[in-house]
Amino acid sequence: MRRARIIGWGRYLPEAVVSNDDLSARIDTSDAWIRQRTGIRQRHVAAEGQLTSDLATAAAAQAIESAGLTVDDVDAIVLATSTPDNTYPATAARVQAKLGMTRGFAFDIAAVCSGFIFGLTMADSLIRTGQAGRVLVIGAETNSRILDWTDRGTCVLFGDGAGAVLLQGETGTGTTADHGLLTCHIYTDGRGYDALKVDGGPSSSPLVGHVRMDGKEVFKHAVQNMADSALTAIAASGLTPEEIDWIVPHQANQRIIDAIGKRLELPMERFVSTVADHANTSAASIPLALTEAIGDGRIRPGDLVLMQAMGAGFTWGSVLARL
Ligand code: ACO
Repeated sequence: MRRARIIGWGRYLPEAVVSNDDLSARIDTSDAWIRQRTGIRQRHVAAEGQLTSDLATAAAAQAIESAGLTVDDVDAIVLATSTPDNTYPATAARVQAKLGMTRGFAFDIAAVCSGFIFGLTMADSLIRTGQAGRVLVIGAETNSRILDWTDRGTCVLFGDGAGAVLLQGETGTGTTADHGLLTCHIYTDGRGYDALKVDGGPSSSPLVGHVRMDGKEVFKHAVQNMADSALTAIAASGLTPEEIDWIVPHQANQRIIDAIGKRLELPMERFVSTVADHANTSAASIPLALTEAIGDGRIRPGDLVLMQAMGAGFTWGSVLARL
């Protein structure tokens, strides 16, 4: 059985860090409120002129290098982003050019905070059907460009960054002992369209728009859908929650992560959380958390990792992988 195995990983966070206190100096908020409601302490913000493609290219180059390969070994780029450099072409095309890659194909995915999970699922399909041997999946965002910095209900929640993994097709036995992606489940329910959206776009207005959110509605769906898709992955694999080594959830809010832990009846020690330092980096949040835990030695080769996300759309889903 063909499996898509993660063989390389990379990340990039912009240099500038904005603390909660920095925000309190600009808008009516406080470090205490933000920490208590979200667990967020700070966020990274891209420099002027630094684009989503720059962040994505840095993370992707590191992923290729960590696998001991070159761009000539990559067949495809799947870039998950809600903050593309331009309306078109796909930012993935620009990343391809910036990497110096002159073969294969590259495209963007718009599934917002679930983008990395949707991207892994696309890469899994491309690899398993033989369309591509090696696929880069990148999540990259410059959320700071679409925030209304006067809206304290949203601007405190997000940050910029990028994370990437390189997947390679390998032959497995078809059991959960295989390395690689073991299950992929993705979902969309467009009835949630207006609960979280950017209120502009090429077809509806001449402007890009800003993030608007019904926080309570999003919170409710985030807990329910992320927990459900985690349980679906566990059931589909025939494993028990106790057999999962690490949970790497979308990093939106520590309270959402805590609530998922309760639903799965798993201790917080099994969860990777970077929301305090990165805030919500949308499509970049899972690969940033994953690469942090691989980098500091928590996640080791052979570990079973369950990733799950929920985002605007609503979109949600999960991927279970053995490193
Ligand atoms: N600082 C201080 N006060 C604030 C701030 C702020 N940054 N933001 C809102 N408030 C105030 C409100 O104005 C309100 O005041 P009022 O009672 O005088 O009207 C009060 O705090 C309570 O506001 P609520 O919106 O009811 O606060 P809530 O407890 O729902 O927390 C939050 C808000 C943190 C946004 C929460 O709803 C949440 O986490 N939702 C999930 C949203 C999320 O994570 N979205 C990310 C994208 S989706 C995803 O990634 C899954």
